[in-house]
Parts: sequence; structure tokens; C-alpha cells
Amino acid sequence: MALLCAIVLSFLTVRSLADDLSVGFSPYDNDFIEPSYILGNNWNTTTVVAQEAIVQWADSLAAQGPWSVTTSKAFLAPSNNTHDYLSWAPYWWPNCSGVGNTTELTPQQIWVTCPYVPRDGEFNPDFRTVNNTGAFTAMSDAIFSNALAWAINGSSVYSANVANWINTWFLAPDTYMSPNLNYAQVVRGPGANTGTHTGVLDLKCMTKVVNAVLVLRTGKAPEWTDTIDTGLVNWTTTYIGWLTSNKIALEEAASANNHGTFYYNQLAALQILVNDLAGANATLHKYFSTLYQHQVLASGEQPFEAERTRPFHYRSYNLASMITNARLAAHIGFNAWNLTTSTGGSIKAAIDFTMTVPPKDEPASELFPSVGAGAAVYGDPQGKYAAFLSRSQEDYPSQPWFFWDQPLSDSGWVRTHATSSGTGTAAAPTSSAGTSKNAGARTRVLLDTPGELLLGVAIMILIHIFLFA
Ligand SMILES: *[C@@H]1O[C@H](CO)[C@@H](O)[C@H](O)[C@H]1NC(C)=O
Ligand SMILES: *[C@@H]1O[C@H](CO)[C@@H](O)[C@H](O)[C@H]1NC(C)=O
Ligand SMILES: *[C@@H]1O[C@H](CO)[C@@H](O)[C@H](O)[C@H]1NC(C)=O
Ligand SMILES: *[C@@H]1O[C@H](CO)[C@@H](O)[C@H](O)[C@H]1NC(C)=O
Ligand SMILES: *[C@@H]1O[C@H](CO)[C@@H](O)[C@H](O)[C@H]1NC(C)=O
Ligand SMILES: *[C@@H]1O[C@H](CO)[C@@H](O)[C@H](O)[C@H]1NC(C)=O
Ligand SMILES: *[C@@H]1O[C@H](CO)[C@@H](O)[C@H](O)[C@H]1NC(C)=O
Ligand SMILES: *[C@@H]1O[C@H](CO)[C@@H](O)[C@H](O)[C@H]1NC(C)=O
Ligand SMILES: *[C@@H]1O[C@H](CO)[C@@H](O)[C@H](O)[C@H]1NC(C)=O
Repeated sequence: MALLCAIVLSFLTVRSLADDLSVGFSPYDNDFIEPSYILGNNWNTTTVVAQEAIVQWADSLAAQGPWSVTTSKAFLAPSNNTHDYLSWAPYWWPNCSGVGNTTELTPQQIWVTCPYVPRDGEFNPDFRTVNNTGAFTAMSDAIFSNALAWAINGSSVYSANVANWINTWFLAPDTYMSPNLNYAQVVRGPGANTGTHTGVLDLKCMTKVVNAVLVLRTGKAPEWTDTIDTGLVNWTTTYIGWLTSNKIALEEAASANNHGTFYYNQLAALQILVNDLAGANATLHKYFSTLYQHQVLASGEQPFEAERTRPFHYRSYNLASMITNARLAAHIGFNAWNLTTSTGGSIKAAIDFTMTVPPKDEPASELFPSVGAGAAVYGDPQGKYAAFLSRSQEDYPSQPWFFWDQPLSDSGWVRTHATSSGTGTAAAPTSSAGTSKNAGARTRVLLDTPGELLLGVAIMILIHIFLFA
């Protein structure tokens, strides 16, 4: 009896450890995962904890949807059209000192009366009063994680979520977004009535939306209907027209720093969505032969990010975006991973250099997915990347990105920490062609470590004796 209790208790103990480890996700700056990898369903058993984390991430974000530009808006765009995306420039602050007011101004008066001045890197918290930006960012992670969860778990709940949210944001008559960013990152103040080029960055995570659509489309999810696909392709065609001709969009395309890199993430992904692969290829060749040429020095330093107020964040941010461009390129048969810049830098040099930079008071974890990508793409024969990750965040194999940044060593973490979730095995998407080669992975992780199981049992027997003797 004691032994039985001990075994049951030891399972519960290990199980709750795994649950605790996989809570709390930060959104990724950007990424693109090869759809055939997601649908291939032939994942390393070391990724089982990351797979569970992705499903939990998908569930937690799903509880917040759906999202639309027509909600969460205390203010209309200057066009007065509720369908027009609106955001305020986040680093701009009111300067009311020359306005001549004799009493306090209300927020609404400040927004239209006081000239706004820039303070790089300092968020004006009231820019979230109009929260289309937060809504799109949350939705893009929800769509991305739910498409992954569909491939991992197989439930049509996840594919239906993706289809429903895309229909709400882009297509439904009451809630659609106009296919332009004419009013993104408006700098407030007297006479402000247009967006600014930095606002194009607000939709950088279109890349994740496209990634999800490719997974559902290629995997033939029944919930991803022809009607929604055709509607989204139509919307995207109009929006690509705006992105490639509007003055604001073209200014963003010419930005030397991360703004330019993210513009190319967005445009290339959308061209892939509408099946203009030659156009996407031309877009990515242009990025790697122009902006990229000046973005990384031979040392690996990124000069345009290093000069910013939060340099560790900006280095990590642009790095994620360069990696995303290389991943989009790889998807269409253009190998950009080893391309060098005009001064002899490369994506790999940028990864290696950023790993040596102390983050100081900035979050270190923003860099980790890019280090994982470095190991997966360039290999890690000396174990340098795995050692860095293990030193920085011991439980890195529990993070969603560990699922797709493969191959990458788990530094032995999964064998010593993971367990069966007891909820069955990873399965093929109900409608995909993939076979369930991954079946049984979750249980194998626990059962291949009999020594640890025995140790757990022994500890629980001791606890049992202590408590109940
Ligand atoms: C938007 O509505 C405001 C307030 O009704 C009005 O003053 C303004 O002229 C309108 N703008 C446009 C572009 O219709
Ligand atoms: C704020 O406005 C005052 C008065 O117009 C001006 O002298 C000052 O330079 C402005 N401050 C900034 C940071 O722009
Ligand atoms: C003018 O308005 C600003 C913003 O509300 C406020 O900080 C400032 O104190 C006001 N000036 C006077 C003289 O009340
Ligand atoms: C903006 O939207 C995001 C995503 O829905 C949400 O997490 C955040 O709390 C919102 N911010 C405000 C100030 O409403
Ligand atoms: C998918 O998730 C549901 C709900 O949590 C669960 O009941 C089911 O067993 C999972 N299926 C697989 C194959 O993991
Ligand atoms: C295509 O998109 C345009 C706006 O971009 C819209 O006016 C039109 O109704 C759409 N057509 C179809 C068939 O969805
Ligand atoms: C993209 O460009 C590469 C050359 O860099 C070429 O090999 C590949 O076939 C092109 N892909 C498409 C879809 O045009
Ligand atoms: C980069 O170049 C090295 C050396 O030529 C080669 O071994 C490696 O396969 C290349 N990596 C990629 C991702 O193409
Ligand atoms: C799984 O990943 C581990 C760690 O990188 C590696 O040693 C092992 O060979 C991989 N197994 C398979 C089947 O790919």
C-alpha cells in the first residue's frame, strides 16, 4: 500500500514540476517555421515539454480572442472610419510648456493641443489608450501558437480558432480592417492627421499569421475554407499594393535599421501567402543585397541597433528579424544564411557577438530564440550554443521555440526533468497527411529513465513513512 501511494505521489510531484515550468510565455519578436517541419510530425522526443508548452500557450491566448480594429479604440482615425487601423507613436511625449494654458488640460486636450517631441526608447504609456497594436500582436501570437497546437494536438478547436480570428480581423463586414496603415503611429499634437512610417512596424508579425495560414492550407484543415483563403488573398493583394507604393510604406522600406528588416519580413511573407514566390524572392534578394549589407560589422556588432537607448533589446530584435528573412528565403529556395555584409559580417557573426554582450538591465531572454536558431542552422559541434542557453536559462527546452529550433541539444534537461503529462501522445493533425511517428514520445521520456523513477519512488516512500508513521 505504501509503495502504491509512493508511486502515485511521485508521479504527481514530477507532473506538477513539468506544469510549473511551462507557464509564462513572452511573445517572440518574429519567426517563421518551415511548414513541412510542423506538419512532418517527426519531432525529436526531446521537444515534448516544448510541445506541451505550445499547447498551453495556445489555450491561454485563445481565451482572449477574437480581436478587431473596430474594438478597443477610444478614438477614431482622422478619417472617422472605424475600420481604419489606428495607433499612436509610442516614443513621442507632449510638451505643453509653450501652450499658454492656465489650468490643467484633460488627456483629450493634451492629445490635440500640445506639440509632441521624441524620446527614443521611452514608451509613453498612454499610447495604449488606442490599442490596435496590442490587439494585433496578441492575435498574431494566438494564431501562430494555435496553428502549432493544431499540428501537435490535432484538435479542430485550434484550426477553427485560427480561421475565426483571421475572418474577424481581415474579412467580416462589421469588423474587418481596411487594407492599409495610413493611420499607424500617428504623432499626436495640433493638426496631426496621418500616420508615420514607423507605424508599418505595427504589423511585422504578419509573418506569424502567414506561417499559420500555410500550415492550415498545406495541412488541409477543413476549418480553413476556400472562402476564407480567397478572401484573405484578396485582402492581402490590396495591402501589398499599399506596402509597395504608399509614401509611408516606402520610407519604412528604406529604413537602415530593424524597421527596414521587419518591413521585408512582412512583405516577403505576404507575397508567399498570395503565392507570388518570384516576388517574394525578389524582395528577399533586395533586402540581402541592400539594407543587410550595412547592418552587421565583421565583429558581429549591429551598428544601427547599438546606438539606441536599449541596445541589447534592439540587437536581439533586429537579429530575430534577419533570421526571419533568412528563414523565409530558405522556404523558397534562396539560401541566405552564409551571405556576408559589405564589411564581412554575417547573421552568425551577429548571433555570436550578441551572446558576448552583457544585457545589463535589459531582459536577456529576448536573445535566446535566436541562439537556438543559430544552433539549428549552423550546427553546434562544440556545444557552444547549448552551453550558453543552459547557463542562461536552465529550462530552455521547456520553451516553445525549442520545438522548432532543431536540432539543438537539450543539455540533458528533458531526461532529468520531464515526465508524461498523462494526457496521451502527440498526434497527427486530424486532416493532415502526416503519420503519427511521434506517438508515444511523451511516455518514453519518463520510462527511459528508470533510475530517476526509482529515486523518486524511494524519496516518496521516505516521505510517506515520515508523514504517516
Ligand atoms: C471626423 O469627425 C469630426 C467630428 O465629427 C469632424 O470634425 C471631421 O471633419 C471628420 N473628418 C472627416 C475626414 O470626415
Ligand atoms: C518644449 O516647448 C518649449 C516651448 O515651446 C521649447 O522651448 C522647448 O524646447 C520644448 N522642449 C522640447 C524637449 O522640445
Ligand atoms: C497646462 O497643462 C499641462 C498638462 O495638463 C499641465 O501639466 C500644466 O500644469 C498646465 N499648466 C498650468 C499653468 O496649469
Ligand atoms: C492591449 O492589448 C493587449 C492584448 O489584448 C493586452 O494584453 C493589453 O493589456 C492591452 N493594453 C491596454 C492598456 O488595454
Ligand atoms: C488535445 O487536447 C485535449 C484537451 O486538452 C486533450 O483532451 C487531448 O487528449 C489532446 N490530444 C492529444 C492527441 O494530445
Ligand atoms: C477584395 O478586397 C476589396 C478591398 O480590399 C473589397 O472591396 C472586395 O470586396 C474584396 N472582394 C472579394 C471578392 O472579397
Ligand atoms: C529564389 O532564388 C534562388 C537563387 O538565389 C533560386 O535558386 C530559387 O529557385 C528562387 N526561387 C523561386 C521560387 O523563384
Ligand atoms: C555555410 O558555409 C559553410 C562553409 O562553407 C557550410 O559548411 C555550411 O553548410 C553553410 N551553411 C548553410 C546554412 O548553408
Ligand atoms: C534528439 O536530440 C538530441 C539532442 O540534440 C540528439 O542527441 C538526438 O540524436 C536527437 N534524436 C533524433 C531522433 O533526432
